[in-house]
Amino acid sequence: MNYSASPSWLSSRPSSRSNLSLRQTGSKAPGFFSKALRSVAISTISAVITLILFLTAPLLAQTAPSAASLKGAIAPYDLRVEYLVNPLGVDTAEPRFFWKNRHSERGQSQTAFELIVSSSPSADTGDMWESGKISSDSSIQIVYGGKPLASNRTYYWKVRIYDSEDKASPWSEVARFDTGLLAPSDWKGQWIGSDGLLRREFILPEEPRRARAYIAGLGYYELHLNGRKVGNHVLDPGWTNYKKRVLYATYDVTRLLRKGKNAIGVMLGQGWYKSRALMFELYVEDASGNVTEIHSDSSWQTAAGPILEDSIYHGETYDARLEQPGWDRPDFAAPAAATPAGWHPASLVEGPGGVLSSQMMPAIQVIDTILPLTMTNPAPGVYVFDLGQNISGWAQLRVNGPAGTDIRLRFSELLYDNGLINQENLRSARAEDHYILRGDGATEVWEPRFTYHGFRYIEVTGFPGTPKLDSIRGRVVHTAVSPAGNFSASTQILNDIQHLILWGQKTNLHSIPTDCCQRDERMGWMGDAQVTAEEAMMNFDMAAFYTNFLRTICDEQAADGSITDTVPHVWGQRPADPAWGTAYPLIAWYMYQNYGDRRLIEDYYDSLKKYVEFLRGKAENGLLKYSYYGDWVAIEKCPGSLVSTFYYYYDTKVLADMARLINKTADAQAYDKLAGDIKAAFNREFFDPKTRHYGPTQTANALPLFIGLATDKERGPAWSELFNDLVYEHDSHLTTGIIGTKYILDVLTSTGNSDLAYDILTKTDFPSYGYMIKNGATTLWEIWQQREGPSMNSHNHPMFGSIGAWFYRALAGINIAPDSEAYKKLVIKPQMVRDLTHASGSLSTINGEVSCAWSKGDRHVKLEAVIPVGSEALIYIPVFKLRNLQLTEGGTVVFADSQLKTSLPGIKSIEAKGGNLIIRVGSGRYTFKLTGE
Ligand code: BGC
Repeated sequence: MNYSASPSWLSSRPSSRSNLSLRQTGSKAPGFFSKALRSVAISTISAVITLILFLTAPLLAQTAPSAASLKGAIAPYDLRVEYLVNPLGVDTAEPRFFWKNRHSERGQSQTAFELIVSSSPSADTGDMWESGKISSDSSIQIVYGGKPLASNRTYYWKVRIYDSEDKASPWSEVARFDTGLLAPSDWKGQWIGSDGLLRREFILPEEPRRARAYIAGLGYYELHLNGRKVGNHVLDPGWTNYKKRVLYATYDVTRLLRKGKNAIGVMLGQGWYKSRALMFELYVEDASGNVTEIHSDSSWQTAAGPILEDSIYHGETYDARLEQPGWDRPDFAAPAAATPAGWHPASLVEGPGGVLSSQMMPAIQVIDTILPLTMTNPAPGVYVFDLGQNISGWAQLRVNGPAGTDIRLRFSELLYDNGLINQENLRSARAEDHYILRGDGATEVWEPRFTYHGFRYIEVTGFPGTPKLDSIRGRVVHTAVSPAGNFSASTQILNDIQHLILWGQKTNLHSIPTDCCQRDERMGWMGDAQVTAEEAMMNFDMAAFYTNFLRTICDEQAADGSITDTVPHVWGQRPADPAWGTAYPLIAWYMYQNYGDRRLIEDYYDSLKKYVEFLRGKAENGLLKYSYYGDWVAIEKCPGSLVSTFYYYYDTKVLADMARLINKTADAQAYDKLAGDIKAAFNREFFDPKTRHYGPTQTANALPLFIGLATDKERGPAWSELFNDLVYEHDSHLTTGIIGTKYILDVLTSTGNSDLAYDILTKTDFPSYGYMIKNGATTLWEIWQQREGPSMNSHNHPMFGSIGAWFYRALAGINIAPDSEAYKKLVIKPQMVRDLTHASGSLSTINGEVSCAWSKGDRHVKLEAVIPVGSEALIYIPVFKLRNLQLTEGGTVVFADSQLKTSLPGIKSIEAKGGNLIIRVGSGRYTFKLTGE
């Protein structure tokens, strides 16, 4: 352990250093809390000179550019409806609008907006809604307030805003949204079954002016019109409990249709439905307003296609000799029903039972294509390709050879020493695709449609001749959430961990958050979902994805309020382990914190309350004892009842906060009271007055410290135990499972011990993230141990990636202020730990870009921050042991000789306090440099 890496002028920072020296004398470390509290007290009484300056509007106006140069300087941009850009299929009666604001001046905010919704593309008049000038500083979650929206229409909208000086921006560009099928009666089609392929021809009397296709194709579908695949969705629709809900996709197909003969073709795969069924609607409008409608019914024809087998776990077998060229075009000469590939009328089938809902989230898509790094030939006729990265998706094959050649592709995360692929950890998932060649002399390019694998290596056998490196390409497939975060640091291992987190996270977004993407699971395990949700919301735009997932969770709720371990429910139990079920309240709450989504709280409040009441019904004297997994995959396991009661308390507290938010005051009080009772019971049951801790594991003490279950009495001793366990017993290694891991770094930071968190993260021996990296991980492992046999050891499990949120909050310092949401108020407080000389993070938040990049050198700290329009931030720059401080912003001295020197736009106050310069700023971009002696 090396605790002397920091320069001497850093050494008086509160850190674990002094505790360490105590260990050398053999004593237990004293409670850090007393120390931390002392330092807070000292800092508040110490008469550090504080100077606060409020920049007033007139002052701002003096430094502001002239009105003429302001043209275009204020602008709403990134317009969205229900979190999505120009969405199709909006199926809420009162959709919500979002935009971000740009302003050339600092310290600016929106004071009012005006919004127009129109049925005409020019959006000159708001025939649907003219909001008028509405005083509001909010540019998110703006609820539609116009005339009732009709099904299957396109609406256009634009917005303009007024800034702090009531100056209007120009109107934004015109954005649009399309409504879906709002009433069940809008669906005129019937569910039809299929042997694999379905087709229907029809005639359009005129050129189409507007055409929309609505499709729910189970398990998976691929829609074709006139010989072309429609859209870029794959493995669609998203997975739900089909008995409750089936998602439909909406496509604008205007340009794929034409006057005269047209043909629809649909390929169906089995997916999670394990059968095939189609519901389809096509609405085509011509210039004179005449509408042609085509629905799924028994007039469609079906035939077996080239896909002989398709299974999510086992793979796809495709015989290209069975393709029927032209099947998805008009004038197709369909082979007669009696022949093997013959077509016959599709039969009506019983539907899955669920309501049809629009898929209002990004679809699964092919996101990237990776060329293999190497190809080896470990055995005769066996070729192994290495992508260099563990991914979710499949391989695209390029081949030329004789008809009927059967090429087998098998997928794995691991290799044996002899170079052959090791599929043992896939358990019963065969992960094997077959392509049988057409053999017409041309190069055949194939990839599967209705399966996916989790893999880094592809084994090819049966290839005609010797494959080339580019005979195989890796296709990265997952839900197309946009990246939203960037993090980097001067210590390489942190960037390497971030790489594992990003790849682990995105490759486990397959319309639901999955536990893994390779073996025979790929389930929406709720524990995995809840621990990763905050990290995911920082690294990706998850708003629409989790909105859908919450609804899917709600669909699984039983009348008694219970929910399930997996959603949709396949594996695991009902009721869920409380550490798994907590995904429901916690993800709803994170949605509010990150995206300001109050509607979810309103819509699900009763159901969430029912869930907490279910837990209450299971509790005995304030303790929730049942637990199946607890601190799952921990090295040192803490009692499941402690973990369950922690979440019982957490869920109850969150429910009280939700009740407060939506003005259910009596409920808020009742759940505050319940939380108080649980807290008392928790401490009575788990805090041992003799040993003076909650148990001999890191998680047992971290959980109550994280959430404030520990009172003044327990806090100090519990912290001592945790500290000693981490530092002395385990040489700064975690022994936690997925639950403890999520919270422990935050506990370290809140107690002033970010240095220790950094020590933990930079370890490379077992157990650590570095250990995974050293042993070749390119995504996060499921367990800390390196195992490669048939036991449970997925090499792509995102759940230990929860610490990714700490990278942004602690190292990049970006935090939502405790009394705020959606990054409206920020606390920028980077932890400049140990030998870290630089870290930067940026988040594309719902309110705009937030970033912080800092570097520290000998006697200086530089910090660049970007704060979105309408937000304000407290920026903390640690002064370490520097004296004679001078702070510049953009080169101008703003603070020196303990006082404010120059007032600059956007900077509201500067205060030296508690070892930091605390700068209060409004929106804008700032470059601070602190120097001293
Ligand atoms: C999954 C986990 C899940 C767990 C429940 C495993 O098989 O892969 O990630 O949370 O079961 O304990």
